[in-house]
Amino acid sequence: MNWLSDNINLLALIAAVVIVVLTVLVAGKYIKQMKTDRSTGELAKENWDGIGEYKNELPSGWAYTFLGAMIWGLWYFAIGYPVNGYSQIGEYNEEVAVHTKMFESKWANADRQTLQEMGEGIYLVQCAPCHGIAGDGMDAKAADLTVWGSAAGVLDTIKNGSKGLGYPMGEMPAGLLDGDSAKRVASYVANGMKGEKPAEFAACAGCHGVDGKGMGGMAPDLTKYGTPSFVADVLNRGKKGYIGTMVSFKGRLTPIQEKAVGTYILSLSRGE
Ligand code: HEC
Ligand code: HEC
Repeated sequence: MNWLSDNINLLALIAAVVIVVLTVLVAGKYIKQMKTDRSTGELAKENWDGIGEYKNELPSGWAYTFLGAMIWGLWYFAIGYPVNGYSQIGEYNEEVAVHTKMFESKWANADRQTLQEMGEGIYLVQCAPCHGIAGDGMDAKAADLTVWGSAAGVLDTIKNGSKGLGYPMGEMPAGLLDGDSAKRVASYVANGMKGEKPAEFAACAGCHGVDGKGMGGMAPDLTKYGTPSFVADVLNRGKKGYIGTMVSFKGRLTPIQEKAVGTYILSLSRGE
């Protein structure tokens, strides 16, 4: 490597030599002075093992710099940083918001197939640790999603009750109906409450309302059971259920991601 081929290198090299030479000269001068010079001036009263201290004025340059630094420090603490300071977390949040917006508009009209594929990816990362890769709930460690969302899921809820979503109505008791009447109600609810209403639905209307819509938020809206928007509601609430606690995913997934993961898990119970 040729050290002198580059001007910048050459300048740096010259500067380094100058610094070394100046340091040696200045240090030498003071060492010599220490040997010959005697200081004069008034000594302070205190001394430490016979070593005293001169009563010197503060060097004014130093004093002004010190004062200036203090004023700047107060300004920076009270105004400078809070008002226009750079924040790494702020920048991160802004970037995430921009990307989320791009993501939401890019996939705003995604078809079912796309949502389901996107949902599978989200599911495997976010949900599979509790619900299992196949969605079966891993020996009842979490809800069995191969059932939940279908008529069999409603039947299961009627049989075992439900709790932990945090609705004002509280807990849904187990065993409100059984046998064929439970099955009729279950398939009615799982089909989005379309078609003829079975008479036994009266057992549900007290809490879910005659129209099943949950009486203005008192209990879940059964007309949405088995849709991605019902899943999104579960995700935002979390669930302190019978077999464990599901954390709330509020703010952790975008609306489209919620829809995607909902589409995916509902495909499990429908064998799609
Ligand atoms: C005593 C009031 C009450 C009655 C009666 C009732 N429910 Fe519920 N239901 C609730 C509440 C409260 C919830 C939310 C429970 C939770 O926090 O998990 C709920 C939740 C549900 C869910 C969603 C739970 C899940 O598995 O995702 C379904 C489905 C459901 N009820 C169906 C029915 C049906 C069908 C009937 C009639 C046989 C019925 N409910 C009767 C209060 C009731
Ligand atoms: C920390 C473990 C955990 C994670 C992570 C988790 N869940 Fe759950 N989930 C549970 C448990 C436990 C239950 C059942 C509680 C009960 O019914 O006793 C449940 C219940 C459910 C239910 C049924 C709700 C109802 O009303 O009965 C749905 C739907 C669901 N989870 C979807 C998801 C999705 C989608 C994800 C990923 C975005 C997810 N869960 C992540 C533990 C988890």
